[in-house]
Amino acid sequence: MTDALFAGIMSGTSLDGVDAVVAAFSEASPLTCQLLGNAFVPFPPTLRETLLALQQSGDDELAHSARAANALADLYAQATRDAAKQADVEVTWLRAVGIHGQTVRHCPNEAWSCQLNNPARVAEHLSVDVVADFRSRDLAAGGQGAPLVPAFHAAMFGSASKHRAIVNIGGIANLTDLPPHGAITGFDIGPGNVLLDAWYARNRAPHQKEWFDRDGAWATSGKVSQALLEALLSEPFFKKPPPKSTGRDLFHSAWLASHLASFPSLSPVDVQATLLQLTATTIAAAVSKEAAEEIYVCGGGAYNTALMNALVALLTPRVVKATDALGVSAQHVEALAFAWLARETLARRPGNLPAVTGAQGARILGAIYPGRGSHRGRCDD
Ligand SMILES: Nc1ncnc2c1ncn2[C@@H]1O[C@H](COP(=O)(O)OP(=O)(O)O)[C@@H](O)[C@H]1O
Ligand SMILES: [Mg+2]
Repeated sequence: MTDALFAGIMSGTSLDGVDAVVAAFSEASPLTCQLLGNAFVPFPPTLRETLLALQQSGDDELAHSARAANALADLYAQATRDAAKQADVEVTWLRAVGIHGQTVRHCPNEAWSCQLNNPARVAEHLSVDVVADFRSRDLAAGGQGAPLVPAFHAAMFGSASKHRAIVNIGGIANLTDLPPHGAITGFDIGPGNVLLDAWYARNRAPHQKEWFDRDGAWATSGKVSQALLEALLSEPFFKKPPPKSTGRDLFHSAWLASHLASFPSLSPVDVQATLLQLTATTIAAAVSKEAAEEIYVCGGGAYNTALMNALVALLTPRVVKATDALGVSAQHVEALAFAWLARETLARRPGNLPAVTGAQGARILGAIYPGRGSHRGRCDD
């Protein structure tokens, strides 16, 4: 068999849980990739609360981080097992598992970004190679350490004839611009779901079963406040030229509260409608600048019908569709990207794009935590 099996594990800024995939990648070029299995393991509410608290300075962070990293590693291993089971493959057949880890701080201006994980623990659980800590090398080379998915988007979704853009709407939204000829570019756009989720949780979740605004139904029942929208759009990050990346470090509830202070009489539902429009407007502006004719959306935001409708309204007559139209379900693209990045690491090929991250050059990303007993069979298990 010439194909190699990899697992990819993504848990993003939305803090919803762990997405896992198992995929077979061809060794030959161009890339072919068969998605064989997937799994989603939601975060237990207590872990979610801990991870939310760790986004800011607090008491005894080191111990809380280390404990959370162990809990995450256990979920990453479980998600890998679940995805392998669904794919009907043995975990030990995997060449490696690529794990993004859980971002709790992203500070590229200080050349660091913190993804909680305990890759050694995952390697111990699964007995296969684990590749982790993908961002540090790019940061060490002067880059943002983000976004890292554009090289995969290019390999998977690039077209020789169409100018495409891939927009991932996770907690934060990011863009990959794929012209048929010329340089691939990409950057973080701003808030994807993070503010929508936070505002919904504060105003609605106590009374509803859901903790996010399913299909954007609540947002749709409100009215966009142009004045608030303009105030939110005045955030300097939106105008900053790339390379740029961001996270909950900037777009958090306090950021929103500081703007809302000037709009005391606005109803919560109108705030939600405006936040949805903020996500759509900033994405449309980023895409329009790059002049792509086809826009493919991935991440949880692709399932928000109201958000997709708002994007279509702003970007018509361009094509706006979920990446499912290109053969990969929107929920699985980012996890698949980390399976692919692990494959690039093992092959000692670079995973970053310096034009995207601003790094001084292309770098092999990640650290390899070997599985037990691999290759030489001499480990004392
Ligand atoms: N049906 C839906 N309607 C509205 N929003 C959705 C829906 N499904 C998922 N989402 C949003 O997607 C988010 C998860 O997206 P995801 O791509 O996993 O982000 P991240 O990578 O940051 O974890 C959820 O927090 C929620 O806001
Ligand atoms: Mg997620």
